[in-house]
Amino acid sequence: MPYRHMTAMRSEAVAFLNCRPGKIYVDGTLGGSGHAALICEKIMPDGLFIGIDQDQAAIKNANSVLKSYQTIIRLFHGNFTNLPDYLEQLEIAKVDGILLDLGLSQHQLDASGRGFSFLKDEPLDMRMDMRTTVTAKDLVNSLGQKKLADLFFNFGEERRSRAIAGQIIIARKKAPIESSLQLAEIVKKAIPVNSYARQKIHPATRVFMALRIAVNKELEKLEQFLDLAIDLLNPKGRLCVLAFHSLEDRIIKQKFVLWQTECICPKSFPQCICNHQKTAKLITKKVVRPSKSEVQNNPMARSTRLRAIEKL
Ligand SMILES: C[S@@+](CC[C@H](N)C(=O)[O-])C[C@H]1O[C@@H](n2cnc3c(N)ncnc32)[C@H](O)[C@@H]1O
Repeated sequence: MPYRHMTAMRSEAVAFLNCRPGKIYVDGTLGGSGHAALICEKIMPDGLFIGIDQDQAAIKNANSVLKSYQTIIRLFHGNFTNLPDYLEQLEIAKVDGILLDLGLSQHQLDASGRGFSFLKDEPLDMRMDMRTTVTAKDLVNSLGQKKLADLFFNFGEERRSRAIAGQIIIARKKAPIESSLQLAEIVKKAIPVNSYARQKIHPATRVFMALRIAVNKELEKLEQFLDLAIDLLNPKGRLCVLAFHSLEDRIIKQKFVLWQTECICPKSFPQCICNHQKTAKLITKKVVRPSKSEVQNNPMARSTRLRAIEKL
């Protein structure tokens, strides 16, 4: 059954891409194809849509959801960092817009059976691309206590990272940690009840996020992609990125600011020696957040942060 879920900031993101017929657009994170369908709608009949996802299920779904646009779509199962290769295969030098809607799709969370959710008992896998080899179970059962604590702190901003890592070490001495609920229970044990009762989120939220980021090398791939993306845009081409947490958003913001800066020499230098060139202008002066009514209808969208640039 094809799936289609509520897409965060759907019309806003597509509007920032400035989609026009006859032009070429990339969605590097197809997910449920909500953004993709709207982009295709806007660029029919003679545009070209390139869709990428590292999850095979998203590609299969896109083939079905985007069926009525099949003359203008090209789909690739892989990482968005491979975009230069995909463009080469299509004999395309540059594109007019790129969208990234980062993180996890609702399908992955609710129905993939890969342990992304701490509310269900599933094997602790968390790979978006099943062709990669390291799972969340591997990390949880093999990393040393300090490495685990650092992972939870750096990728999950989890203040109780050491206590949680300690509980994991105790638990796995008895038996390997195999499932999502098993891990969620271990995390709960490390957090005093009165502390998590005050929090609005489940006590395992940050640990699950950190593991997912590590398994899929999410921040590394985002940085790699941003380093190559600007060169793949035509003049006036746009890049629009939707992030879901501050770690991603910080990387995006810093890169966008760098692109729109003329000179990166230290302020104390009497003259410019950096040869840095401004390559883009910000179209979102500040981060754009979803409207109140969208958050009411789709609470999953509440932490979305949208930023967009235009290549000079
Ligand atoms: C939030 S969902 C996208 C939702 C989509 N915009 C929609 O309208 O339904 C994120 C998707 O991006 C994919 N993804 C995340 N990181 C990726 C990467 N580095 N390369 C390719 N796909 C990625 C995930 O597998 C997931 O399907």
